[in-house]
Amino acid sequence: MKLVKHIANLGYGSRKDVQWLFREGRITNAAGEVLYADDPLDHDDVRIDGEPLDPPTGLLLMLHKPVGYTCSTKDRGRVVHDLLPPRYRLRSPALSTVGRLDRDTSGLLLLTDDGQLLHRIIAPKSKLPKVYLATLAEDLRGDEGAVFASGTLMLEGEKTPLLPAGLEVLGPRSARLTLHEGRYHQVRRMFAAVGNHVAALHRERIGGLVLGGLPVGEWRALDAEARTRLFAGNAA
Ligand code: URA
Repeated sequence: MKLVKHIANLGYGSRKDVQWLFREGRITNAAGEVLYADDPLDHDDVRIDGEPLDPPTGLLLMLHKPVGYTCSTKDRGRVVHDLLPPRYRLRSPALSTVGRLDRDTSGLLLLTDDGQLLHRIIAPKSKLPKVYLATLAEDLRGDEGAVFASGTLMLEGEKTPLLPAGLEVLGPRSARLTLHEGRYHQVRRMFAAVGNHVAALHRERIGGLVLGGLPVGEWRALDAEARTRLFAGNAA
């Protein structure tokens, strides 16, 4: 790929904008030598105004999603992309959320521009565990664990029963729920099916990945070791 296209794809501007950056001599190598639009691509050696380039395609990010943000870029309210550097919105291929969390759900959200990786994480056969902390509006009845583990629970409008899910009761109105699939509003609908209502919901884990102290609203890029950990949690 041409250097100019590579830089434009990272969201630094249209190809025309980037051509101007070249003309103004703002794109250099690490030694400060001016680069030209058709120079060979060596990502790590490129500087714009002396700064290294944003990471290349193949990004996997972890975000601690706050309540009040949606995962859809089309939403007119606050969206999770607002929490990333503005340039990241303009990247091609685009950074997509890996599945979604509701506006009122907080916690661990992954974003990637790697379509194959995204598919590997959300494909039904991956069965990657997703762990949620739910605070409930009503006291638990006591039979919810058995109902969720049964593998026979049918949600309204669905054609197949839910896969068995694990429930750990933490208090009269709080529980940890482990799912191995991701249906629309699944946690809220599961508790509604047993006569309860989710007052607050937080995702604390996907596969072997946890937020690990990442503050609310902040994000970090995941390295190869974290990616391995993501899938290593598959047995859980
Ligand atoms: N289940 C829900 O109901 N909401 C979420 O955001 C995630 C899982």
